[in-house]
Amino acid sequence: MKHTVQITIDGKTTDLPVLEATAGLDVVDVRSLISQGVYTYDPGFLSTAACDSTITYIDGDAGILTYCGYPIEQLADHSEHLEVCYLLLHSELPTAAQLHQFKSDITDRMPVDPQFAQIFNGFTQTSHPMSMLCAAVAGLASLFHEGLDIYNPDHRLESAMQLIAKIPTLAAMSYRKSIGATFVDPDPALGYAENFLNMCFGETGRASQVSPTLAHALDKIFILHADHEQNASTSTVRLAGSTEANPYAAIAAGIAALWGPSHGGANEAVLDMLNEIGDLSRVGEYVDKAKDKEDPFKLMGFGHRVYKNFDPRATVMQASCQAVLAEQGVEEEPLLKVASALEKIAREEAYFIDRKLYPNIDFYSGITLKAMGIPTPMYTALFALGRMPGWIAHWSEMLSSPFKIGRPRQLYLGPVKRDYVPMDQR
Ligand code: ACO
Repeated sequence: MKHTVQITIDGKTTDLPVLEATAGLDVVDVRSLISQGVYTYDPGFLSTAACDSTITYIDGDAGILTYCGYPIEQLADHSEHLEVCYLLLHSELPTAAQLHQFKSDITDRMPVDPQFAQIFNGFTQTSHPMSMLCAAVAGLASLFHEGLDIYNPDHRLESAMQLIAKIPTLAAMSYRKSIGATFVDPDPALGYAENFLNMCFGETGRASQVSPTLAHALDKIFILHADHEQNASTSTVRLAGSTEANPYAAIAAGIAALWGPSHGGANEAVLDMLNEIGDLSRVGEYVDKAKDKEDPFKLMGFGHRVYKNFDPRATVMQASCQAVLAEQGVEEEPLLKVASALEKIAREEAYFIDRKLYPNIDFYSGITLKAMGIPTPMYTALFALGRMPGWIAHWSEMLSSPFKIGRPRQLYLGPVKRDYVPMDQR
């Protein structure tokens, strides 16, 4: 293993250390380059590790995703979302007693202060749930700011538990607001995913009618989304958090970053596309559009920047999706028939096989959420719900050892100094 690389700038050679990863690519430590009078240039961070981390590992070529070393398939098969949350926060799986305590800690923190709930009165009924969720999470900073010491691990854990506990309540409130319905209180007797579904579709004081199959499938969706190392929203949380900002504000920044269709918004885009296609008879036309170089149209839910062989989350999600479709008896629903025709074509046609364009997790999660009766604008809010432990674990990891404020440099290409031109001379 080579432990340094050499770079020669204007005839002067500098040794740059190579930092060894426990798995995956090693990184060249370029921090000393500034003393040589140059920066590195890497828009989009294509070749840049912005931090070190012990939380999540991805090997996109091999289709591997692990949380703290545990393969996602094993976690999805054997654990539940709150167990995964504990793992991400503590780096170890909980004992039965620890999990019991953690669940009770989360349940205790799920209710939202009635005064704070008035924040939703400021929104119109047509507001997108992501807009409400982002604002509500940022608003939590107003409840948890005084006395918060972000360098105290106990305070960080309390913030993490508050956020993991309150995000289902706030997401469900966003949904209830969007349909003009009153809020449903969290029920301490229910599991995490079931509680969320009951707060969306149930009634305060009435026994939960949530199907265990749907609650189980949603819990799995949360596990599969719980972390994905330094993606755009997690990097946003780290960057905002690096200014020592309030954690609720930093997480709200992550929610904003997640909203875009190139990131968390893709599951919503899958359903928009299925709606646009509308009928089996038009599938061929849209597949041709996707293959046409002159047409910018892409099949939403196919392909992935990192996973080039398969998305391990999609494999798990596919099985879960089928269980939900069977339980709901909706296999014959026109949009779902369009989805299965697209999936078949993508698996059989050379264009998709040659380019390794497999259905990704958003394809199956979009269809699953549709079959569950979740309204499309809520899909990204559900992604945010699932991703919460990842965001807060990365924020806490950053604060637990020395770090610097995130402050990229730039390649300046604007005008060099010029003199101000008075208005009458322009
Ligand atoms: N439909 C049709 N053709 C596609 C698609 C698609 N969904 N995705 C890629 N291609 C084609 C490209 O046109 C290109 O063809 P060419 O080699 O003939 O020029 C080739 O496949 C490679 O595509 P790239 O854009 O280079 O692949 P990249 O890795 O940069 O992009 C991405 C990956 C952004 C996910 C892309 O596949 C895409 O836009 N997919 C649809 C959106 C989507 O589902 N996003 C969710 C990703 S998963 C997540 O974020 C959780």
